[in-house]
Amino acid sequence: HKHILGIEQLSKEDIGFILDTADSFKEINSREIKKVPTLRGKTIINLFFEASTRTRTSFEIAGKRLSADTINITASSSSVVKGETLEDTAKNIEAMRPDIIVMRHAASGACDYLAKRVDCSIINAGDGAHEHPSQALLDMLTIRQHKGRIEGLKVAIVGDITHSRVARSNLYGLTRMGAEVRLAGPGTMMPPGIERLGAKVYHDMNQAIEGADVVMMLRIQLERQGKTLLPTLREYAKFYGLNTQNLQLAAPDALVMHPGPVNRGVELSSYVADGIQSVILDQVENGVAVRMALLYLVLGGEQAE
Ligand code: CP
Repeated sequence: HKHILGIEQLSKEDIGFILDTADSFKEINSREIKKVPTLRGKTIINLFFEASTRTRTSFEIAGKRLSADTINITASSSSVVKGETLEDTAKNIEAMRPDIIVMRHAASGACDYLAKRVDCSIINAGDGAHEHPSQALLDMLTIRQHKGRIEGLKVAIVGDITHSRVARSNLYGLTRMGAEVRLAGPGTMMPPGIERLGAKVYHDMNQAIEGADVVMMLRIQLERQGKTLLPTLREYAKFYGLNTQNLQLAAPDALVMHPGPVNRGVELSSYVADGIQSVILDQVENGVAVRMALLYLVLGGEQAE
């Protein structure tokens, strides 16, 4: 693939190949090895129009581990604040001859829009409420690492599904890899018709997490709610928060996941976020390997030794 715009466009074989490649890159992000020359001479620009801690940093580290030149542009310190359009910004960046633009943008479809207008590769680092493919890939890598498989697992995704690009990318990826995906959240945060993408929909969180092998919690995206009538955060925590009591409904060895940033005490109690079933920091660590694999494969690499 020239671009990585979403999981929707990836086959089961594509996903398996990316995860295998990421596995083979893991040791390059270890204490012993920190750099290989694989992408020497390549230039990667991280173009971020929305805030990020994990995604931007790990794409930068991933590029550096592979010896690419990585440059970060954040919209707030760019000429976007002077009124330059997305297309003009991208065309001007492209004139400097990068090999890949990694972009995060508040508008769903912004990465697809750019991919049709520039010659270099585009990797979607999150576009509005549409997709966040590298996040779903690192989530699937983490599940595979801990469970040895994805096929046949029951995965509950709980929270603000409507605004979650993470939920959408995971729904495409996990169902394609043979998992059962259960979605739970308030009616105002559940997109109508999402069952058509293969999910089971619940409004009672307890039913969704009963017997689940993985419980993936999401935060309420207050910045994207528009006119939605919101529950208070206390009400939300009561009905859609994961705590030590309701976690017992899941399988005894269930993984607790969260893409971050966590709103502690809202969707996740601190006991659970820091508990032995939490793999939240493994997700972040795997994010570097997955992003190395994406940069490498988009630039034409074969599966690593
Ligand atoms: N999970 C995730 O995308 O985190 P950031 O917003 O910090 O990149």
